[in-house]
Amino acid sequence: MPVSEPLLKAVGVRKNYGHTEVLKGIDLEVRRGQVVCLLGPSGAGKSTFLRCLNHLETIDGGQVWVDGEPIGFKLRGGKLYELREKDVARQRRDIGMVFQRFNLFGHRTALENVVEGPVRVLGADPEKARKEALDLLDRVGLADRAGAYPGQLSGGQQQRVAIARSLAMKPKLMLFDEPTSALDPELVGEVLAVMGTLAREGMTMVVVTHEMAFAAEAADEVVFLADGAVVETGPPERVLKSPDHERTRQFLARVLS
Ligand SMILES: Nc1ncnc2c1ncn2[C@@H]1O[C@H](COP(=O)(O)OP(=O)(O)OP(=O)(O)O)[C@@H](O)[C@H]1O
Ligand SMILES: [Mg+2]
Repeated sequence: MPVSEPLLKAVGVRKNYGHTEVLKGIDLEVRRGQVVCLLGPSGAGKSTFLRCLNHLETIDGGQVWVDGEPIGFKLRGGKLYELREKDVARQRRDIGMVFQRFNLFGHRTALENVVEGPVRVLGADPEKARKEALDLLDRVGLADRAGAYPGQLSGGQQQRVAIARSLAMKPKLMLFDEPTSALDPELVGEVLAVMGTLAREGMTMVVVTHEMAFAAEAADEVVFLADGAVVETGPPERVLKSPDHERTRQFLARVLS
């Protein structure tokens, strides 16, 4: 795939739950190294869309490509065939995901949480994986807490371990779904700081967030979703300051007040 091609391309993504159309045909392109923030009111479909990007949800229409590969499907002889779960899992290794609630293994230390994926899933050499995991914990500011169990860490620290654990898989793309919204306010900054550094280092990221200051600072583009559709897209300077649509204006007035 030429370098100019987007790393992530979603075209016409549709999702229904029963008779309700939750995603009504969403397009998104993210180039390598770009950060895109998804904004929108509760129920807009942000989490659903993020889950469609790595085939945690089966989509009812459209297609998602990551690095030229159709996600959840295989192209053979011009036709798409749905992949088996094992092959989808292989595709998902390239796509890190960090959720609102820290999804760490409670009975394993921070270090063990980070080492687990590379060793068990990628077959990495345990000693090498351990060194890399310690480097990653250092990068998220937790070098001194490697031996702590999740229950001994603050929410912000747990979320930083979750980020390190995703990075240990060397993903091409990171998806974040409101990674700071379950945190006490005083812990939000430390997680956003780690994400900001990651963005500056060139990680390709799609971030669902209500943190407008983060979006303004880190995003190359913001996408405003409402009712399962993209209302508007553009650089944060424009969309956050002078949105084209009344719907976006109303949302911003609410979250910025
Ligand atoms: N598993 C499900 N079954 C049925 N309906 C669902 C399911 N998951 C989500 N929905 C519905 O899909 C719509 C979009 O939900 P989604 O969680 O994607 O919104 P969101 O934009 O992430 O909202 P929030 O900001 O509250 O996280 C909502 O109306 C929700 O009720
Ligand atoms: Mg959500």
